[in-house]
Amino acid sequence: MTESLESIANALVAPGKGILAADESFPTIAKRFASIGVESSEELRRSYRGMLFMADGASEFISGVIMFDETVSQKTDAGETYPEALKELGIITGIKVDTGAKALAGHAGEKVTEGLDGLRDRLAAYYDKGARFAKWRAVITIGDGIPSNACVRANAHALARYAALCQEANIVPMVEPEVLMDGDHDIDRCDAVTSWALQEVFTALREQGVALEGMLLKPNMVISGKGDANRADVQTVAARTVACLRRNVPAAVPGIVFLSGGQSDVEATAHLDAMNKLGAEQGGLPWQLSFSYGRALQAAALKAWGGKADNYAAGQAAFLERAKANSAARNGRWDT
Ligand code: 13P
Repeated sequence: MTESLESIANALVAPGKGILAADESFPTIAKRFASIGVESSEELRRSYRGMLFMADGASEFISGVIMFDETVSQKTDAGETYPEALKELGIITGIKVDTGAKALAGHAGEKVTEGLDGLRDRLAAYYDKGARFAKWRAVITIGDGIPSNACVRANAHALARYAALCQEANIVPMVEPEVLMDGDHDIDRCDAVTSWALQEVFTALREQGVALEGMLLKPNMVISGKGDANRADVQTVAARTVACLRRNVPAAVPGIVFLSGGQSDVEATAHLDAMNKLGAEQGGLPWQLSFSYGRALQAAALKAWGGKADNYAAGQAAFLERAKANSAARNGRWDT
């Protein structure tokens, strides 16, 4: 492993900093825009994402941005590509490289993430365009009799092969096994499935020879299903998540950056803050605990922007407010 993988992974989880996930695929960004009554176009996607990336002072809280393929080649109003412009601000460019979660053959209701074919060449091209870290998201659904062993293992294997290819290309892999919050399962079930998925992922990473010092883990929190009648409170989510990660994530991993996965923005901040406060009480954690939020960083900004250039400043202010709150939470210093 090169030193640069390790130093980039560490820079992404530097104290007070976390990651903005802005890598929504075409259908997903169209859904987000539709929620504010805006039609998705190339120019609006460029302008909306630029609003977030170029927000004045964001680099105090944001270490890296995950982009979708289209965004890497788009330009700021001043004519620089987004990776070039972010580099000048001290923000590292990341790229989503999976090609989506597809139905897993023979396993109704389950998915496996695709995108390994041709990945070596795509990674080299993204490196040339400025990407220094990447993301691959596996999706695990909790339901009646699922997840299956087939689903958990197929996804772990793909994540590990992706991670090995990234490191070969000098790109830090962000390994994301997401156990979905959808469903009415309780927190115990989320804990059991998350533990299982993490165990399979780290077994596969070891098998493929991935250097843990040069990667980041992007997991879900251990949390009640959305439809659970007795949803666990903030302190319980924090304690269960930290305990689950201590059991399953080797100390060599420099950082764990959570996804928000449909939590409200304040909830996502409160959980992260509670975990870091708990870690401090426990005398410190083996890894940095930070954020790689999509919706929890963008929801308020998207609404304030509303698709209008006139609302740029309001959108940036809303984004910076969430970024600042999560920066504090990432240090365990957020006050409601
Ligand atoms: P959310 O925080 O909206 O879950 O998005 C993070 C992400 O990148 C999921 O892959």
